[in-house]
Amino acid sequence: MSGSEGDAKGQSVTLHVVSSLDGFIAKKDNSVGWLDGPGGVYEAGVSISEEEAAAFVKTIDCYVMGSRTYEHALELGWPYGDTPVVVVTGREWPPARESVEFYSGDLKVLVDERLKPRYRNIWLVGGAMLCQRFLELGLVDEIRLMIAPVLLGEGLRLFDGSVREERWSLKNVVGYKNGFVELLYSASGG
Ligand SMILES: NC(=O)c1ccc[n+]([C@@H]2O[C@H](COP(=O)([O-])OP(=O)(O)OC[C@H]3O[C@@H](n4cnc5c(N)ncnc54)[C@H](OP(=O)(O)O)[C@@H]3O)[C@@H](O)[C@H]2O)c1
Repeated sequence: MSGSEGDAKGQSVTLHVVSSLDGFIAKKDNSVGWLDGPGGVYEAGVSISEEEAAAFVKTIDCYVMGSRTYEHALELGWPYGDTPVVVVTGREWPPARESVEFYSGDLKVLVDERLKPRYRNIWLVGGAMLCQRFLELGLVDEIRLMIAPVLLGEGLRLFDGSVREERWSLKNVVGYKNGFVELLYSASGG
């Protein structure tokens, strides 16, 4: 895993999601077994220890997610610890964990006026709807796409055709022993 490059001030918005080989990020029934189902071992791949993964996660200053992803994270068991989380929603929500705040409104204002003054390494972690809005508005500096070694056939598409044609620069590729591949791209010119 390599860290974010960021802009001149070292700040960056990284879109991070796990996709199936055929481009889905969720099954219709929302089950997540496909994320860690058994698969062949890719001998040439790397593996990272729990300590390395924990150290990497500590470099993330803030997570941003859509309300449906938030609901699913609550169901599955909160994976974000005490790291600040901003949930984008137009709905009213009951008070949640201290680390969670809700945001409704202009997404460019969110990034430029609420997030970047406070955080450097900002991770947008889904879902598809919010990622597409961020991409349409040019608010993503990096795409970190993890490809799972599975075809799902149907589900929720990461990219549904609403984003415009745009070239990105490949920065890194990591193949893991479990058959997952991580692709890291930065916005061209970034
Ligand atoms: N494979 C992965 O890496 C991955 C990652 C994340 C999520 N997921 C899966 O993806 C699914 C959820 O994705 P999704 O695309 O359905 O939903 P989502 O993007 O998580 O959330 C959509 C919601 O976000 C709010 N929202 C989005 N844009 C907004 C804006 N401009 N202003 C205000 N609110 C806005 C709206 O909330 P309100 O309706 O509350 O107004 C909208 O209904 C879940 O199954 C989740 O498990 C997979």
